[in-house]
Amino acid sequence: MAIIPFDDRDGEIWLDGEFVPWRDAKVHVLTHGLHYGSCVFEGERVYDHEIFKSKEHTDRLFKSAELLAIDVPFSKAEIEAAKVETAKRAGFKDAYVRPVIWRGSGSMGVSAPEAGVRCAIAVWEWPAYFPPELLAKGIKMDIARWKRPGPQSAPCTAKAAGLYIICSLAKEEAEAKGCQDALMYDIEGNLAEATGAHIFFVKDGAIHTPELGNFIEGITRATVIDLARARGITVHERKIKPEELGSFEQCFLTGSAAEVTPVGEIGPNSYTVGEMTTQLREDYLKLVRRQLVLEQDLPPRVAVS
Ligand SMILES: Cc1ncc(COP(=O)(O)O)c(C=O)c1O
Repeated sequence: MAIIPFDDRDGEIWLDGEFVPWRDAKVHVLTHGLHYGSCVFEGERVYDHEIFKSKEHTDRLFKSAELLAIDVPFSKAEIEAAKVETAKRAGFKDAYVRPVIWRGSGSMGVSAPEAGVRCAIAVWEWPAYFPPELLAKGIKMDIARWKRPGPQSAPCTAKAAGLYIICSLAKEEAEAKGCQDALMYDIEGNLAEATGAHIFFVKDGAIHTPELGNFIEGITRATVIDLARARGITVHERKIKPEELGSFEQCFLTGSAAEVTPVGEIGPNSYTVGEMTTQLREDYLKLVRRQLVLEQDLPPRVAVS
């Protein structure tokens, strides 16, 4: 099915505090964010008319902006309210929410604190991130030649647009090889993450996942760790070396877009879609729709209808 271009859709986009017709939400070609990557964003899902972990996403958006020295001209409460209103106006039961904040056109110098800051929020329908027919066997992953920059090289814990170029390249190169995604290593050669999701492994009844430090603090990652611990599963957050890839039994990805996606292959290594992966995927899909409640307090959802 042909994708409708994203600049040619019906609906409204929240832009700098006001709703504008979807097709009118334009930026000028001379925009700092476009030329220098001074832009941060979020990716969130609406399930049954509620934004899942909306507050956590807004907190991370502001943290990302701070890491890029971008002063957001709205409060967190204003962004929260704008997300809800945008989702309400879009009207979808299930949807994807994309807040984005970027430096504007007030200056085009590399250093441009006076460039101005602009914000937008768009909501659209986005069903599954990976082809659903691959869920039974798991997706196939390439090993990217690109390494995630470390904290000495970039504000690598920010969800910053500029950092995504290596993700786009890695994913496009993976797709050209018949894979659906790519595993990226960090600059020290440890496993980091996929191009738009975090990675988990199962071995001897326990879960292993790369420790935080070189990538964004995943909201789904934290949720899945909570779900695993609620089931009494031990979760090891640690440095994982590529040599270990052959020793794991199961593998899965987590992300707001990817949800919990089983992985069947990474390069020459194969994994089964085992009980633990399947269980955690089911738990996650129930949790986001309030069909499962964790013992610890769930963060408040934000209703959009
Ligand atoms: C590079 C990258 N890693 C990981 C994730 C998963 O993070 P989250 O679970 O917060 O969506 C995303 C998606 O936002 C991502 O783009």
